Amino acid sequence: MIPFKHINHQRFYTDFVTFAHMIDHATIERIIDAAEISEVVSEFVTLRKRGVNLLGLCPFHNEKTPSFTVSPAKGIFKCFGCGKGGNSVNFIMEHENLSYPEALKWLAKKYHIEVVEHGDPEEEKQLLDERESLMIVSGFAQKYFTNYLWNENEGRTIGLSYFRERSFRDDILKKFELGYAPDGKTPFTDAARKEGYKMEFLEKTGLTIKRDDWVRDRFAGRVMFPIHNLAGRVIAFGGRILKENKETAKYLNSPESEIYHKSKIVYGIFQAKREISKTDKCYLVEGYTDVLSMHQAGIENVVASSGTALTPDQIRMIKRFTPNITIIYDGDAAGIKASLRGIDLVLEEGMNVKVLLLPDGDDPDSFAKKMGAAGFAGYIRENETDFIQFKTRLLLKDAENDPIAKAKLITDVIRSVSVIPDPVTRSVYIKECSKLLEVNEELLYSEVQKQKRKQNDELEKNEIRIETRKAAQQPKIEDVVTTGKLNEEELVFLRFLLKYGHLALFELEDENPHEVVTVTAGEFMVHEIEKDDLVSQHQLFRIIFDGVKENLENPAFDPWRFFVHHPNAKVSQLATNLLSDKHNESNIWKRGGGFTESEEDILELLVPKVINEYKWRKIRQMLTEIEKEIDKASAENDFDRVIDEQSKYMNLKRVEKELAEKLGNRTII
Ligand code: CTP
Ligand code: MN
Repeated sequence: MIPFKHINHQRFYTDFVTFAHMIDHATIERIIDAAEISEVVSEFVTLRKRGVNLLGLCPFHNEKTPSFTVSPAKGIFKCFGCGKGGNSVNFIMEHENLSYPEALKWLAKKYHIEVVEHGDPEEEKQLLDERESLMIVSGFAQKYFTNYLWNENEGRTIGLSYFRERSFRDDILKKFELGYAPDGKTPFTDAARKEGYKMEFLEKTGLTIKRDDWVRDRFAGRVMFPIHNLAGRVIAFGGRILKENKETAKYLNSPESEIYHKSKIVYGIFQAKREISKTDKCYLVEGYTDVLSMHQAGIENVVASSGTALTPDQIRMIKRFTPNITIIYDGDAAGIKASLRGIDLVLEEGMNVKVLLLPDGDDPDSFAKKMGAAGFAGYIRENETDFIQFKTRLLLKDAENDPIAKAKLITDVIRSVSVIPDPVTRSVYIKECSKLLEVNEELLYSEVQKQKRKQNDELEKNEIRIETRKAAQQPKIEDVVTTGKLNEEELVFLRFLLKYGHLALFELEDENPHEVVTVTAGEFMVHEIEKDDLVSQHQLFRIIFDGVKENLENPAFDPWRFFVHHPNAKVSQLATNLLSDKHNESNIWKRGGGFTESEEDILELLVPKVINEYKWRKIRQMLTEIEKEIDKASAENDFDRVIDEQSKYMNLKRVEKELAEKLGNRTII
């Protein structure tokens, strides 16, 4: 029996009792009632249903497989990777870097709840932290610039007519909250000061430039593009000059500040995030106006890198909503070549990258206006190319008939392939590249191995550090069970991996270009248990599993030879035993009725079964351990841990049930 303890929501108020007095209790309760956890989290994270819970990529740490869980029933979120968890208010506090009352107000605004405040408003203003102050002043500036664009003479005749000349529709100007900053020395700064905004914050946001006795508006006489964070708050601006002028930079941007880190935000994400989730795809362009024009053409899943190379933080922001990204290029071949290296970063994050090249002389802005919505969409459909293929073709043009250039090209393309985390995807690319480059696959495989070894050496130090930290935060149950006897399911799994790992299991159809790819039993087995994070921590298991995994792409690898002659006596003995007859007639699937065919003939039946048996056993082990943990935690009155373990338990129970159904002959306790 699993002890169940009620979650004490009240705890969340009492933690902040010193602040909460400013908002009355009834209001707090209304806010908490309204703020449904999955709805709040969905503003920032794409969630997919997983049984009774929802699952997504954690916004608080970098991860490749989702471990961020939301329980609508309990009203809480919990990340099993980094350990963060709590209710909707805690989520907003953590995510938006807000204090408790600020987070409540944030939610109140979202749910249109009027906040009745007690206490001294002056005192409260003092309490707002610096970040909040910077956002407030940026929000004011945006409203000021927008108002100036639409309602003031100078704004209308200069700013608005500029946008209209470029044929931006009013609804688009409003959607992106564009504006105009009046010309002159300090009209904006004066207006802000008059409203009571402090010089300190005007300076820190860069809206005002101040040197000793000299003050002026940064953006005077420019049309303004506010930059929004994920939640839709203004954190910075880009200001464009109106005339083409070689002397001054076309765009002036806000400086880095406490709330604006250029490398961490992509332009347009707030306006695009819903559509990115919905279409499961994101277009990446270079400029502000490209984003605007694509929206105007009805393509709303688009963001801009704002003229710089994409950074890992920006990629991760996009990845929260989709793994599919299409980079739209308008440059010439030279410009494109210069940017190719940066795309390896995107591949490294496990994203699927496509490329779209626009006709010479067009950028997304001009092209969208020329082609209209349907024309643009059609062009995308017909011209979108897979990145590695695109890169190979592009570089191949220069390398024909030049063996040295070709060797360099191979290294170059293989570098991109080798950073892809998923081995199955990688092998698809190797097959493709082998054809395009007219080089045999084996050579490419060994080239990938070489590259990976090089990258691993570089990464190793870093990874060991991260792993140690992770392990310290979250001691894994199986870590304890690293020696002792391997269970029968583990043994069978290893035997299949060694014996049939290299054989074809099934074929996958790849759409673009239409091609059939063979997946081996080994690839499938490795992929399946890694994806569920169920790789046994038993030392012998690890050695064989990792050895096979590293050589998945190496057609010359002979697992029997390799492990039977392994320098570690225990490994070689195990491999020898697995090879010998006594294991070959395993009883494990006789439970479901005996087979007379040879294993090899019915691999496509047996391999999934072997995997599921293995998973089922592993999960049973974990469940037993968790039960112990729960008992221990509740004996110590550590309810946070009880909740943690409880939700792990529920998740595993569900997986167990699914597996039991697949296996058909398991009783669930
Ligand atoms: N950019 C910048 N500073 C500059 C020039 C460009 O920050 N001096 C950034 C802007 O984010 C700009 C992007 O790089 O949107 C792309 O530059 P570009 O293609 O030159 O500008 P567009 O967005 O196309 O602007 P426009 O169409 O108005 O010329
Ligand atoms: Mn442009």
